[in-house]
Amino acid sequence: MGTPFQRGQWTGKLGFILAGAGSAIGLGNIWKFPYMIGVSGGGAFVFIYLLAILLLGLPIIMSEFLIGKSTQKNPVGAFKILSPNKPFWLVGAFGVICACIIMSFYSVVAGWSLHFIYEAVLGFSGGDGEIQGIFGKLYENGLANCFWHTVFMLFCVGIVVGGIKDGLEKYNKILMPALFLILILLMIYSLMTEGAMRALSFLFKPDFSKITPQVVLDALGQAFFTLSLGVGTMITYGSYLKKETQIPSCSFTIVGLDTVIAIMAGIVIFPIVFTFDIEPSSGPGLIFSSLPVLFSKIPFGYFFSIAFFVLLFFAALTSAVSLLEVPVAYLIDEWKISRRKATIGVGLAIYLLGIACSFDNFGIFGMSFFEIFDKAATNVIMPLGGLMITIFAGYFISQKVKEEYFPDSWKPLLLKVYDVLIKTITPILILIVLIAKIYELF
Ligand code: TRP
Repeated sequence: MGTPFQRGQWTGKLGFILAGAGSAIGLGNIWKFPYMIGVSGGGAFVFIYLLAILLLGLPIIMSEFLIGKSTQKNPVGAFKILSPNKPFWLVGAFGVICACIIMSFYSVVAGWSLHFIYEAVLGFSGGDGEIQGIFGKLYENGLANCFWHTVFMLFCVGIVVGGIKDGLEKYNKILMPALFLILILLMIYSLMTEGAMRALSFLFKPDFSKITPQVVLDALGQAFFTLSLGVGTMITYGSYLKKETQIPSCSFTIVGLDTVIAIMAGIVIFPIVFTFDIEPSSGPGLIFSSLPVLFSKIPFGYFFSIAFFVLLFFAALTSAVSLLEVPVAYLIDEWKISRRKATIGVGLAIYLLGIACSFDNFGIFGMSFFEIFDKAATNVIMPLGGLMITIFAGYFISQKVKEEYFPDSWKPLLLKVYDVLIKTITPILILIVLIAKIYELF
């Protein structure tokens, strides 16, 4: 770790790509993406989502890496360096607070994956109804949620205390390839079920009449969430980049991996959904209430069920640590607090917020804290943060700084495309989403 206040760095390109992909690939890909496809009617949603990744996701992730790498600072410090004496650092401060809020409910959902590992080890047995009911029972049981949230937070704090090379990078290097492998095995299995063909055409034959404004909004929101954008996660990860690591190629790889894993998750889930006549539009409970039923019926189901929920836990863990790293980096850089103290302190604060999210009947205005945090994050916080970042990257970072971070071989074309997107199309798209989302909220 070196001296307490010295900043760490990724060992190189591979370490950075795996960590960035680790942050991006999470519950968003494996839990949220399939159920959103189901709710929004299949291929049309997938099509818009892919467009959103290209037009919104790529330019914003590149901007966040650019801001981080060029300053080697946390989100607050980065804005202060790039634009001194202007209030842009508030965008960073907003991000630091929001990362804590997102992490608090993310940890509760991640706790569900731990509970399901436990259930999987015991074995899913009994009638279909009984197995499907496990999720509902867990959801209503605040104390159980609290317990698994506690366990999950301990894992996160343990990893982040280790720092960049010995914590974040080391674990991502093991967990990400493991996740990929398990997903491939499950995918092969799924593709051999009789519902496979129907699932593939559901996913990849878009029915364009199903594209409604709501589908577009959901797809754009999903693109934000899945790439960890808008709260400074990728600024922070970019700040640990070495000089020689190139932003554009790393961004393409990370976004590509995230997209591939999301699509693979779809290919795992939907053949099963169609084979066993599960309702595709059954919502957030889709994977938790349907997959265990499947696992109770298939050969080697015991093994697959444990593998699947362990995979979900890995994916959530590598994302959650990237959220935790945002406030930790801020405290280390700006307040000169040691990594250990910063991690334990913020971890504790997030832990308490998460406890409030563990009880579905605990909240204000008739909504649980879980719902409030979740809705605020996906509908308002992330788009707003993303909008500020694009405007900043488009109009307040000098052309000279940008040129420096695009490798010569790609520069002329890539920089031009990036500039056009970041200055016009991307912010306009976000603005539309943001306004529509706020409108929908009230
Ligand atoms: N991208 C992660 C997922 O798909 C979640 C995540 C990590 C995130 N960091 C974030 C979401 C920052 C929003 C903002 O599960």
